[in-house]
Parts: sequence; C-alpha cells; structure tokens
Amino acid sequence: MPMLDIKNLTLEIDTPVGWVKALDRINLTLEKGEVRALVGESGSGKSLIVRAIVGSVPDNWRLTADRLSWKGESLLSMNAEQRRKIMRKEIAVVFQNPQASLDPSATLGDQLEESIPAHLLAGKWFWQRNAERKALASKVLHKVGIKDHQDCLQKFPHEVARDVNHKMMIAMALVSEPELLIADDPTRGMEATTKVQLLKLLTRMNQTKELSILFISHDLLAISSMANTMTVLYCGQTVESGKMKQLRKRPLHPYTKALLDSAPSFRKELPVKSDLSALDGTIPTLQHLPIGCRLGPRCPRAQKECVKVPAVRRIHEHYYSCHYPLHRDKL
Ligand SMILES: Nc1ncnc2c1ncn2[C@@H]1O[C@H](COP(=O)(O)OP(=O)(O)OP(=O)(O)O)[C@@H](O)[C@H]1O
Ligand code: SF4
Ligand SMILES: [Mg+2]
Repeated sequence: MPMLDIKNLTLEIDTPVGWVKALDRINLTLEKGEVRALVGESGSGKSLIVRAIVGSVPDNWRLTADRLSWKGESLLSMNAEQRRKIMRKEIAVVFQNPQASLDPSATLGDQLEESIPAHLLAGKWFWQRNAERKALASKVLHKVGIKDHQDCLQKFPHEVARDVNHKMMIAMALVSEPELLIADDPTRGMEATTKVQLLKLLTRMNQTKELSILFISHDLLAISSMANTMTVLYCGQTVESGKMKQLRKRPLHPYTKALLDSAPSFRKELPVKSDLSALDGTIPTLQHLPIGCRLGPRCPRAQKECVKVPAVRRIHEHYYSCHYPLHRDKL
C-alpha cells in the first residue's frame, strides 16, 4: 500500500466564468523511500496539489477524490486537529515561496525551535528541553549548510539573505524528522553550490532514513538526478507517470517529450545557445480550457479524436493519457 495515495483528485474553483476544474482527476502515489518528481509548466497545478494534500484549500472551493489518503487513512475525513498532527509529525512541506512562509516578527531561532515537535523532546526533563532544542536546531542548520548558527538564529527574516531564509525553511521542514517531505520548487533562485548541497542532503536522507520525497521543480536536470519516478502534469491533468528512467528513455505523451526536449542538458548534441524545442503557445488559463484533451491546441500530433478526453491507459507501471501516443507502433 502506498504511503500517500491520491486517486481522481478534482479541485473546482469558482471563477468569473463559473466553476472550473483546476485539478481534474489527478492520480499520484508515493511509497516509503520513493522520490517522485512532479513536473509541468507554470500554472499546471503543482502547488494546488500540495494545498490539497496539506488541507489549505479555501472553503468555497470544491475538493473531491476517490482517495486522498496517508498510510491508509483518508485525509479528507480527518478533522483539522488530526490533520495538523500528521503535518507536524509525519509530513513536512517546504512551500514555494519560502520568504512569504516565514513570520517577519519572530527571529529565525524562535521559528526553528517552534518547528521541533514535542515527541523529539519526550523523555527529557523540562530543564533539559531548552538545551536539547538548541542542539537539534544547530544540528539541522549544519545539515542544510548554515555555518554561523548562533548569529543566524538571532536574526529576523529580513536581516538575512534570501538564500539563508530558503535554507532555514528547509531546516524547519527537516527538523521534525518527517517520513514524507513535500518540496515545492525548493531550488528555484538558489546559487549552484547551495543547490548541489541541498540535492546531496536530500539524497542522503532518502538513502539513510528512507525519507520519501515529492519533489516539485522546473529544474528537470536536478530532479532527474534524484527521483525514481515522475508524474507529468498539464493544465490540471496528469498526462503521464511512471519510472523516471522509462519516461526519459521513451516518453509516450507528446507533452512529456516536449518538456524533456526543452531541457538542453538532456540533449548532448544540442549546441550551446540553440533554440529550445518546446511546444508553441502557452498553457491556457482556467477560464479558457479547451474541450477534450487540454493539450489539443498546442499539440503537434492532435487529430479529430482529440476533442474527446483521452482515457488513462497503462502499460505495466507506466500510465499515459493520449489518443496518439509516441512509439504507438511499439506498444
Ligand atoms: N487562489 C487561486 N485562485 C484562483 N486561481 C488559482 C489560485 N491559485 C492557483 N490558481 C490557478 O490554478 C492554476 C494552477 O496554479 P498553481 O499555482 O498550482 O500552478 P503551478 O504548477 O504551481 O505553477 P508554478 O510552476 O508557477 O508554481 C493556475 O491557472 C492558477 O492561475
Ligand atoms: S490526445 Fe491528441 S491532443 Fe492530446 S496529447 Fe494526445 S495527440 Fe495530442
Ligand atoms: Mg507552484
């Protein structure tokens, strides 16, 4: 049984043109120790999936799912307190905009210590707990590459560089020793060395602690170096998912192929500064969703049949939704 199990997750948002499905029958699973990449252009719904898992969806949106469960228990039928408990102890999230997630009126030290869950201090006498909190904070800061712990802990978010706040958010997520880390675009805007450090740290935690990771990123090269599986999202729909190696070697969906082709480092023969071969056009807004396959207007393989929504098809552990997949003759 997968730890995180999402089946047919649909999220409808009330817009000026009526209700629209910002997420439409999303499927996604995560096993213990698995690292899954979640990719797709800006606006494809990656952060909305995070919000649905975490439970931070406004009351006036409609969220439905055949399954949205954590370790076999439905997140949808839990009350707020039960859900908060899981988010504190077992699932940690690094949100997309770390700067906005920090409290500007509290020091980084206070915020980090606040993130240490009570069960990590269990068995300590109350006079020992303060020292233990400080030790845990120093340890995790060292892990994420913040060297000057003492100085940093006394500062407010606006007094340190963006990079430090970024690392601090990751430290806050990891200090609770979660079983699942959801990282929404954690490397965006990071310097190259910091990025390498973070990827190494997450890989180590995955290998030594069996940390499962849902890794959302635009950086296909970084993500493919550590993920075992990948889910590709377009316009609120899962278009393809499967083992990372398989998807890279033989993508079946035209959108996955376009995404992979747009990452220059995947194509060794591509000369420096040549044009990227992404699809024409841009992702539609929620108010202008095409009928049938949502990729239709941009898809080089589109035909009449594509005005009908393609069903999800499966070959072993490889899922795709397309009427005219690539390598069709070989399927
Ligand atoms: N609060 C909101 N109200 C209305 N529409 C929203 C809201 N949040 C997101 N959307 C819409 O939902 C769609 C998916 O947004 P989302 O932020 O999940 O995309 P994303 O894949 O995370 O993009 P990015 O890569 O830029 O972070 C977009 O069309 C977006 O405009
Ligand atoms: S169903 Fe049609 S439009 Fe959609 S990706 Fe496949 S070929 Fe393209
Ligand atoms: Mg996002």
